[in-house]
Amino acid sequence: MCRGCFQRISWTNDTCGLSGMTGKITASDSAIGIFDSGLGGLTVASAIAKRLPHENIVYLGDTARVPYGTRSPATVVRYARKNVSFLKQQGIKMVVVACNTVSAQGLGGLADGSLLPFLGVIRPGATLALDASSGGDIAVLGTRATIRSNAYELAIHEVQPTRRVHQIACPLFVPLIEEGWLENDVTRQIARTYLAPLADSNVDTVVLGCTHYPLLANILRDVLDEVVGPRVQLIDSATAVAKSTETLLAAHGLVRASHGGIRRFYVTDAPDRVASVAGQFWSEDGLESVKLEHIDLLDH
Ligand code: DGL
Repeated sequence: MCRGCFQRISWTNDTCGLSGMTGKITASDSAIGIFDSGLGGLTVASAIAKRLPHENIVYLGDTARVPYGTRSPATVVRYARKNVSFLKQQGIKMVVVACNTVSAQGLGGLADGSLLPFLGVIRPGATLALDASSGGDIAVLGTRATIRSNAYELAIHEVQPTRRVHQIACPLFVPLIEEGWLENDVTRQIARTYLAPLADSNVDTVVLGCTHYPLLANILRDVLDEVVGPRVQLIDSATAVAKSTETLLAAHGLVRASHGGIRRFYVTDAPDRVASVAGQFWSEDGLESVKLEHIDLLDH
C-alpha cells in the first residue's frame, strides 16, 4: 500500500493536538485513533498503551450518545462515521474501533475512501475464544445490536462451522457500568438473570462481547461459577486487539520508534460526570488519572 496516500502524512503538531511532541515529526508519530460509544473502549486503549507505550493515542468516547447497543444499525454507523471523522482531524495513522456494537456492523462503511488501516474487536475476540476453549460451547455476551448482528457467531463459524455458540444480549450492563455500579447486588442479580439460560449448558468459554464488560469480570465470574461451574473462562479481547494493533502497524511500516507516547482523551458530553468512572477503565501503570477533554460532535 502506498504510505504516501495516507491522510495522516500532512499532520503537524498543531493538527494532532499532541503539543508535548518536539523534533521532527514523521508519519509513524501520528496517533492511533481509538473510539467507543463511551468509556468502555478505554479497556482496549489501556491494553494498547500497555503493549505499545511509545505510541501516541487519541481516544474518543461518545458519551453524549451512549449506549449504541440499543440503536439501529444505520444509526450506529452514522454515529461511528462522525467519530472517525473527528479522529481523522486529529492526524491519526490508524483507527481502532474499540466498540463491539460498531465493529459488528462491519468496518467497510466507516473507511469512507480513506486508506487508513481499521481494526475492529470481533475477530480478535472470536479467535481468542477459539484458542482458549477446550472444545465446549462458546457463549457471547453483548449489546442487543451486537447479538442481533450474529457477528461473533459468524466469525467463530468461519473457523469452526460446527462449534455451538450461545448468544445473550445484556442491554442493562452498559448503563450500570457507566454509572460505576460494578460490584453491587442489583448488578449481580441482573447478571444472574442474563446468565440463567447457560445452566446445564456445555459452555467452557464466555466472550465479553462489549468493551464495557471487563469491568464486570468479578461479578460475571462469580455468577458463572454458580450457574455453569468453575471451568468457564472469560475472554476479554483487549489484549488480542492490542497485539493485532501492533501487527497492523508493523505491516504498514507505522510503528513509532521514539519513546514516551502522548495520550489524549475526548468525550462528547459530561467530562466531569464520567471522570470519576474513567480511571476504572484504564489500567496502565503510571497514569494517575485520565484527563477528559470535551468535544461537541453534535455540531462538529
Ligand atoms: N462498549 C460498546 C461495545 O463494545 C458499546 C456499548 C453501548 O454503547 O451500548 O459494544
